[in-house]
Amino acid sequence: MERLDKFLVSCGVGSRSQVKDLLKSGRVTVDGVPERDGARKIDPQTQTAALDGQPLGGRRRVVAMLNKPAGFVTATEDRSERTVMELLPETLLRQEVKPVGRLDKQTEGLLLFTNDGDLLHRLISPKKEVPKRYYARHEGQASAEDVAAFAAGLVLRDGTVCLPAVLEPLGPGESFVIVREGKYHQVRRMMAARGMTVTYLERQGEGLLTLGGLPRGQVRELTEAEIAALEAECS
Ligand code: URA
Repeated sequence: MERLDKFLVSCGVGSRSQVKDLLKSGRVTVDGVPERDGARKIDPQTQTAALDGQPLGGRRRVVAMLNKPAGFVTATEDRSERTVMELLPETLLRQEVKPVGRLDKQTEGLLLFTNDGDLLHRLISPKKEVPKRYYARHEGQASAEDVAAFAAGLVLRDGTVCLPAVLEPLGPGESFVIVREGKYHQVRRMMAARGMTVTYLERQGEGLLTLGGLPRGQVRELTEAEIAALEAECS
């Protein structure tokens, strides 16, 4: 059982104060009967709340992408740092989305959010092998030996073994890196293991998704077709 006003907010129909007004205006019904009391407890499994006669199906599934700027930590809360949640609009926060995996504070680029826990776990599972594509600027120049070492599965300086990955040198101090897992500081540590310190890192793609023209700091919800494609990649 939960409070009707809280339930309406979680459905994304409006903010707490907007929901208060909706209730006051008599536009909300519970099992067909107008209800003005936000404190009223309902069971969304067995009762139907509706707005203007349209049944509210509870929390809808949301998947969104953010083009993360540097300087924000990937966490839902933090005592001293600004978090990626501060970049999300109220409508997404109300849907209780969480970051899918993490990007380091200084890393920029594509970060997904969802309120679908099952999809989230599949997307970050190394077993599902959803490729993540990064653009890296780094010291030194990647060689053919480095490319072969990435392909074979690198062993990091602390002995951690990585899954085979792709290193594509673009020129002096610039490479693409594609990994299929999300270990802590993975790309930076992989490059360091080959003597190349990363000075800039941007995630440009995850599975078939790319940033497209999404400006830095902006967020957008994925379309149903994009979500279906993402699902197919990690099912
Ligand atoms: N690898 C890293 O080192 N950092 C990131 O933020 C993502 C991948």
